[in-house]
Amino acid sequence: MDLMTHADRLRPVPFREILKAGRTISEFDACGWDINVSRQYLDEAAERALTEAVAEKDLPGAIDRLFSGETVNPSEGRAALHWALRAYETDFADADRVRTSSEAAEALASDIANGRKTAANGKPFKAIVHIGIGGSDFGPRLIADAFHDSRLPGVELRFCANLDPLDLELALDGLNPAETLVVGVSKSFGTEETLYNLSRARDWLRKDVSADWAKHFVLVTANPERATAWLEGADGLILDLPESVGGRFSIWSAGSVACSITLSSDVMKGFRDGAADMDAHVQNAPAHENAAIQLAMLDYWNASFMGFGARALLAYSRRLRLLPAYLQQLEMESNGKSVGPDGVGVGGSTTPLLWGGEGTIGQHSYHQWLHQSPSIVPAEFILAPGARSDDDGVTGLTAHALAQAEVLANGRTLEEIQQEEPELPAEIAAQKVHAGGRPSTFISTPVLTPQKLGSLIALYEHRTYLAGVLWGLNSFDQWGVERGKTMAGRLKPGGEGSNDPVTNHLIDMLRG
Ligand code: F6P
Repeated sequence: MDLMTHADRLRPVPFREILKAGRTISEFDACGWDINVSRQYLDEAAERALTEAVAEKDLPGAIDRLFSGETVNPSEGRAALHWALRAYETDFADADRVRTSSEAAEALASDIANGRKTAANGKPFKAIVHIGIGGSDFGPRLIADAFHDSRLPGVELRFCANLDPLDLELALDGLNPAETLVVGVSKSFGTEETLYNLSRARDWLRKDVSADWAKHFVLVTANPERATAWLEGADGLILDLPESVGGRFSIWSAGSVACSITLSSDVMKGFRDGAADMDAHVQNAPAHENAAIQLAMLDYWNASFMGFGARALLAYSRRLRLLPAYLQQLEMESNGKSVGPDGVGVGGSTTPLLWGGEGTIGQHSYHQWLHQSPSIVPAEFILAPGARSDDDGVTGLTAHALAQAEVLANGRTLEEIQQEEPELPAEIAAQKVHAGGRPSTFISTPVLTPQKLGSLIALYEHRTYLAGVLWGLNSFDQWGVERGKTMAGRLKPGGEGSNDPVTNHLIDMLRG
């Protein structure tokens, strides 16, 4: 029986029956994360068929190709060497160069901490403003937010990404240019938003620190020529973001130097170490225990066969509140595609819309929709308390995550409601029914440390790459974002303009 036939067979079966007759408890452990995948539309026969189908796509071979530096990004003719940024050692020259590229960031952080690198006036920097967008923003923003309580005293960190002028104005608000270091991160050094914000920050610094303004910049890029030109001959520091590290895989790179400077030094170290542990797991664990392979398989099953077009990421962790935004770029920019590297359409669905937020906060918002709307969206719970300093909080957070997953799966029938609440008017009882049937994955760890964040993000990176292999995609390019950039250039004053009547109407209206 092929996979689509299995999916068609299972779709109408009440979920409670699948769960009862199904695979009972299905879970595995990776680097201290427990990953429970029991609540899926899979029984033993479907799982066997899925495992066989996936074996034909040789995911272990894909893992070897990634770690041996083969060209896994054919449209740009590149390897993907982000894993080398957290490797303890590497065994070929390109990976070595990537591994050592983040050392300059750590050296700068220690120079600032020890007073060897100061502001132009010889005093310590009191503020760091990180300017970047997309993969040059989400990662450092996530780490800084997750470990805000590990920040070093006396230095404040701000972020700016948006082209809306207010974003930079808020990032600079109240800061003294003479005490501020601006970190500009752009792999290409050609991204409009980042160049706009950097040039405004340069004007702001020039006014105050005049000739020495470049001493207040650190630029992180794969394009040192452009960065050098931007510095206009002044002596600014340029750090390497290797070409073989994709923007959305660059959280481990010198692009996170603002975190190295402003957080206690064990954060970035633990973060990279945790990722290295996950790399070892993904390379060595057999397929049936390999967390990345198993999660990629489920992504393939849910999107391509069950037809689920979305996935909700429910992070029961204060430290992970920015994770949904981070993973949106990682998964959707990597696998939101329809054509394979050979130029042929892959047919069928690929990666789902990923959205979500912070539990329990989302329970007071979109969980109503998750429970009772006619749409079924698989949920992914991540239970990872930020601290275990208070038992009541951890117990409550845990109970709520477990309860949501159980109700989404099992629902509550009219019969159960009538039995438990016999006095209820029929029309109210009907509105209280939860259909259930919402599959979920439950990922948990007792407390979220920097190591755990590193291993979790590395797991998602590998899962994303492997799911891309299953869908027949190149996960490392992003042609879909280019057209909008070109069009924006045309629509600016002096550009070619548009042939679209709605756009032209809006231009007339907006320009007054
Ligand atoms: O949004 C497209 C994109 O190219 C992302 O892939 C990238 O992370 C982001 O822009 C920023 O690019 P850069 O680091 O080159 O400024």
